[in-house]
Amino acid sequence: MEFQDDLDFARKLDQQDPLSVFRQEYLFPKIEHQNKVYFTGNSLGLQPKGAKDALMQELTDWENHGVDGHFDAKNPWYSYHESFKPLLAEIVGAKESEVTAMGALTANLHALMISFYKPNANRYKILCESKAFPSDQYALESQVKLHGLNSEDAIVELIPREGEHSIREEDIYAKIEEIGDQLAMVMIGGVNYYSGQVFPMETITEKAHQVGAIVGFDLAHAAGNIILKLHDWNVDFAAWCSYKYLNSGPGSVAGIFVHERHGEDQSLNRLAGWWGTPSEGRFMMEKGFKAAIGADGWQTSNAPVLSMAVHKVALELHQKAGIQNLVEKQKQLTAYLAFILEEISSNNTSVQFEIITPKERGSQLSILTYGNGKQVFDHISKQGVVADWREPNVIRLAPVPIYNSFEDVYRFGMAIKNALK
Ligand SMILES: Cc1ncc(COP(=O)(O)O)c(C=O)c1O
Repeated sequence: MEFQDDLDFARKLDQQDPLSVFRQEYLFPKIEHQNKVYFTGNSLGLQPKGAKDALMQELTDWENHGVDGHFDAKNPWYSYHESFKPLLAEIVGAKESEVTAMGALTANLHALMISFYKPNANRYKILCESKAFPSDQYALESQVKLHGLNSEDAIVELIPREGEHSIREEDIYAKIEEIGDQLAMVMIGGVNYYSGQVFPMETITEKAHQVGAIVGFDLAHAAGNIILKLHDWNVDFAAWCSYKYLNSGPGSVAGIFVHERHGEDQSLNRLAGWWGTPSEGRFMMEKGFKAAIGADGWQTSNAPVLSMAVHKVALELHQKAGIQNLVEKQKQLTAYLAFILEEISSNNTSVQFEIITPKERGSQLSILTYGNGKQVFDHISKQGVVADWREPNVIRLAPVPIYNSFEDVYRFGMAIKNALK
């Protein structure tokens, strides 16, 4: 499509957008009674308007039923987490038995790595991306230490080539082959949080399996953002959070995927807890842990129903909009943002922007700024643009298809132009 840096053009795109009706389902931070240009859904997604009522329902049931709410609440808490299976299965491309809503992202990654990172004297290396989110780096280092290994030796980082910002696919595959039978596990963010690069998860999984390694993905920036087919791609395990593209609120309940071929394996190490046992026998309180079949067998604690109430509302909106529709809009929205940025950059000599996100991308564009980029960032923030600044000089922007508009992108461009004046 031929884009134009023009308000009428942006509004026309919004009029033609079948998903534009979803914008009114979300609460936007305001500046002078106007919605801010909210481009940080890759950090914390916006609150669905239905969240308060959903939360109130659980608080009211708690008030009226006390402990009996586990079975007598409108949505009984004992089985509450089970209602997420179809929603999550669709989002990550899995069978229902392969997913569960539980815990928090980093803690879940640890729980999964306890099962799937099984180093021995020869096969002990982990392959990850450089500039992985720090929590992932710390998690990997501590997992390696738990096994008495040295992280400098055991953790191998994929690094972009000199002068480049994203990691070339061929370099990933070459590194997998090079490490070969020393490779125990690949653990990569499906979408890198810094550059916005989407990794070729299917081929990575295939190549890593060929050398006998296990493959796990951190999908914090992928879940709800791009099309995922974890089951078909044969991924071993994955974990994600729900507060970014899944709009479920700060620190809200996270999710995991375990491929069905591991789901019945009682021999795997687990950090076991009562919620990981089959639901029928949970209240028998018997000695001796037996894992439930599927991803449910990795649960440890009873379901955090208050955050799940918001998660449910948010996922139902996602499902209503349709993942395919969201991804189609996302491509157009992000392409429009790239167009606006390139227009500005080519007409300006004092500040230059370089989009460092490769064409393999989701919603996010990461912009490397030269010159007084931080001043420009501060200026657009004052004008009501919510984006994020990463030291030393990167602005991350994520127009999110379920609530952002083409007009938002246009207004963002205007804010940048004002800042440059
Ligand atoms: C890629 C990635 N991994 C891990 C985390 C940490 O998540 P949590 O604090 O929910 O464990 C984040 C948080 O933003 C993230 O972006």
